[in-house]
Amino acid sequence: MPELVLVQRDEPIAVVLLNRPRQLNALSAELMDEHVSELQRLDRDEAIRCIVLGGSERAFAAGADIGELAQSSAIELYYAHRIERWDVIRNLWTPLVAAVSGYCLGGGCELAMSCDLIVASESARFGQPETSLGIIPGAGGTQRLTRAVGKATAMDVILSGRLLSAEEALAAGLVARVVAREAWLEEAKRVARDIASKGPVATRLAKEAVDRAYESTLQLGVEYERRALYLSFASEDAKEGLRAFTEKRKPDFKGR
Ligand code: COA
Repeated sequence: MPELVLVQRDEPIAVVLLNRPRQLNALSAELMDEHVSELQRLDRDEAIRCIVLGGSERAFAAGADIGELAQSSAIELYYAHRIERWDVIRNLWTPLVAAVSGYCLGGGCELAMSCDLIVASESARFGQPETSLGIIPGAGGTQRLTRAVGKATAMDVILSGRLLSAEEALAAGLVARVVAREAWLEEAKRVARDIASKGPVATRLAKEAVDRAYESTLQLGVEYERRALYLSFASEDAKEGLRAFTEKRKPDFKGR
């Protein structure tokens, strides 16, 4: 059996690729478990400062594994805590870039939205087609898509099953960048290397602060940001970054 998840280390970044191409990377329980475990392992690795999560050129992921869902009862799904496992992704410290090419549907779209930012190939197609199956998105789709693109587009995508093109997703605010079809993974790695070159402590604090914007009032978010700024000042990286600028050299960040 080929491995379900491929991991490439290229310090300071790592690339995790879903590898069930014949099923368009449908997110079976096993595939979710394996890739979440890999992400957790890399998150604990100080040498890795940014992770790219991708699929194949044809599909990032075409959703939850429909065959598995069809065989499960509601109570089995409830007890299995499968969706709760996804929370691990949101709690990773290391910035996570979704590299999306091809289909990014249902759970695949929810997975991409759980990452910190999405780099999309021109070929990417985003959708939440669950209502066609008589169910609804269940890993954050109704919430994260609505926050990302607003009610009008979220209702359209979720209720009608319409797929958004990469350009539409960019215009709507779902994706950060659209890149050439043939260079989707290389471009995502380039973005990851850019992120990894910054002060690691500051990057983690900044990522947490941006996430706060979704989960608090403006005033509380601004206060959180201010405390995170003071904390960043206390890091050795801040001293190094500020000194390097005045000395006109590249900073040598240690993540301390
Ligand atoms: N779960 C399980 N298997 C899936 C799958 C999923 N979510 N999505 C695709 N596959 C499988 C297909 O069953 C097919 O397997 P087979 O070759 O053994 O028959 C294989 O992947 C290729 O898919 P296919 O439908 O033949 O490709 P296509 O190019 O004609 O269509 C899609 C691509 C993505 C439009 C179509 O596969 C699809 O609609 N998938 C389901 C999307 C969805 O509803 N996701 C939400 C799930 S909750």
